[in-house]
Amino acid sequence: MATSSIYTFPTYRQQGQALANALNYPCYDISTHHFPDKESLVTLPEAKSDHIIFYLSLDYPNNKLIELLLACKTARKQGCKRLSLVAPYLSYMRQDKSFNSGEAISQKIIGQWLSELVDDIITVDPHLHRIESLDTVIPNTNNQTLTASFNLGEFVKTLKKPVHLLGPDEESLQWVKQVAEISGSSYSVATKQRYSDTEVNIQLPKHVGQDYRNQHIILIDDVISTGHTVAQTATQLYTAGAKQVDVLVTHALFTKGAMETLLSANIKNIWSSDSISHKTNHISLTNLLAETIKKII
Ligand code: R5P
Repeated sequence: MATSSIYTFPTYRQQGQALANALNYPCYDISTHHFPDKESLVTLPEAKSDHIIFYLSLDYPNNKLIELLLACKTARKQGCKRLSLVAPYLSYMRQDKSFNSGEAISQKIIGQWLSELVDDIITVDPHLHRIESLDTVIPNTNNQTLTASFNLGEFVKTLKKPVHLLGPDEESLQWVKQVAEISGSSYSVATKQRYSDTEVNIQLPKHVGQDYRNQHIILIDDVISTGHTVAQTATQLYTAGAKQVDVLVTHALFTKGAMETLLSANIKNIWSSDSISHKTNHISLTNLLAETIKKII
């Protein structure tokens, strides 16, 4: 039996196969069938490996989490000794406290549940705003928290143009600062108030000397969900005289209508990493993930 293998779910075959190629590991397909009522039937290949690395980014997560549960339990039953999960996008990380009485703290509940399923989790820029480390959320698991900032910074360099990088809210400072350092760009960060899933209010930074006239701005964020955060920021930048506004994002969640929201705000280019499969994918995370797996295996 091979020592380590990549197992891919249908939605992430391409990225899983690319990772297997980079590591020179065998790659096997997990098949899924959805019954008329949407129950999932998950089928693993015959036991192939002592160590299975599941590749499954957890956007639109509810079905995927059930299918991951079924796959992990089946792999253990087949005698697999070590299970790793490569989930470049890790969902359920945003709800880290009860904002209203009775609200489930999904981050902790899903984190605990994942820790009982797998031995290693490899993820990229998880949404951990009030939490220092993934280890407090997913206990007793070998958690590898990576950042796509280097990949985004290298991408900005390839544009070979002077650009100003702008983060749409305080939380984006960690990414925009790193991307700016790597690409040698200037940067600043706006402030945001969120009123609902689709209502935000952005205030552009008012540093002395900050002038957007004729500037080419790239908005940097970890996630685009409804698109309202970056769309509203872009609208304000154009009002302030910006020449061009583009978007560079790690996790291209793009819920229904998000693309239209960005286009109606006149955003010119939209680039994303392939942490979530989307037509805007321009930046591969394969090497970043492969290097990490080599270190922990
Ligand atoms: C929030 O803190 C995140 O960094 C993103 O800014 C947010 O998830 C974007 O959401 P939306 O695209 O729905 O405005």
